[in-house]
Amino acid sequence: MKTFDTIHNTKEFLAEAKKSGRKIGFVPTMGALHEGHLTLMRRAKKENDLLVVSVFVNPIQFNNPEDLKKYPRDLEKDKKLLESVGCDILFAPTAEEMYPEEEVTEHFDFGKLETVMEGAFRPGHFNGVAVVVKRLFNIITPDKAYFGEKDFQQLAIIKRLVEMEKMPLEIIPCSIVREPDGLAMSSRNERLKPKERAVASLVYQILQEAVQLKDKKSPVEIARWVADRFNNNPSFTLEYFQVADETFLQPLEQWKRNTGALGFVAVFLGDVRLIDNIRFY
Ligand code: PAF
Repeated sequence: MKTFDTIHNTKEFLAEAKKSGRKIGFVPTMGALHEGHLTLMRRAKKENDLLVVSVFVNPIQFNNPEDLKKYPRDLEKDKKLLESVGCDILFAPTAEEMYPEEEVTEHFDFGKLETVMEGAFRPGHFNGVAVVVKRLFNIITPDKAYFGEKDFQQLAIIKRLVEMEKMPLEIIPCSIVREPDGLAMSSRNERLKPKERAVASLVYQILQEAVQLKDKKSPVEIARWVADRFNNNPSFTLEYFQVADETFLQPLEQWKRNTGALGFVAVFLGDVRLIDNIRFY
C-alpha cells in the first residue's frame, strides 16, 4: 500500500494509473476503521482495479468542538486494517493540506434535504461534508465511491452534490453493517462505556419493533410510540425519531402508496450520539 499525504503526489500517481485505464474505487473515511468500513472496501476492491481510501477527520463537519476533540484517531491501527483488505493507496492529508485558505467560504444549497434530521440538529454539518467530499473527489477522481446507508441522509446529500456539480462518478450505497446484537457499526461505538454498550442494542430492537407496528399505526403514531420507548429508559436521551420518505427525507404523516419510507433515529447514550435507520416500506 502506498501512503500519500499531499494532494500533488496523490494526483500525480493517480493520473498515471488512469492513463493506463485502471478503474478507481474510493472509500472516504474519517479513520477509526471498523468492519463496516472494511465491508465497503472489500466491495470497492472487487469492483475496481485500484482501491483508494482517505483517512481525514474533517474539522469543518463537526458542529460540536468536543465531538471533534473526542473523535477516535489511530492511523497505525487503520493502516494494518487497510493492508488486510488490499488497499492500494491511502490518502491521509493534514487539515492544512485540505484547507490552505484561512476560511472555507464555499456554500452549497441542498434545499429541503438539509433542513431535517441531521441537517436540523447539526447546523453546518452537511456543508462541511459536501466541501470535503467535493475536494476528495477532485483529488482522487474515482470511477465509483462507496458510502454506508447508516448515514442515509449524508448519502442523499452526496448524490445531490454529484448531480449539482456534474461529477463523472457513480455513488454506490452499501447496506448497514451491524454487530451480532444489532448495533449499527460506527467509529463512535468505541466511546461507549461497558454499561452503555450493554444496552446499545436496544436502539435497533426498538426500530425493529416499530416496523412490526406499521399495519396498525400511522407514521406519526409510530414516532410517538418510539419516543415513549426511549423516554421511558433513563439510559437514553432521544434527539429525534422521524419516519420520512426515502427520496426527499421529508416527514410522513400517512403511509403513501409507491413511496419508500424509512425511520431515522438519533439518540444519546451518555455523551455518545448514535444514529440508525430502518426501512418500513
Ligand atoms: O462518513 C464519513 O465518515 C464522513 O462524513 C466522510 C464522508 C468521510 C466525509 O468526511
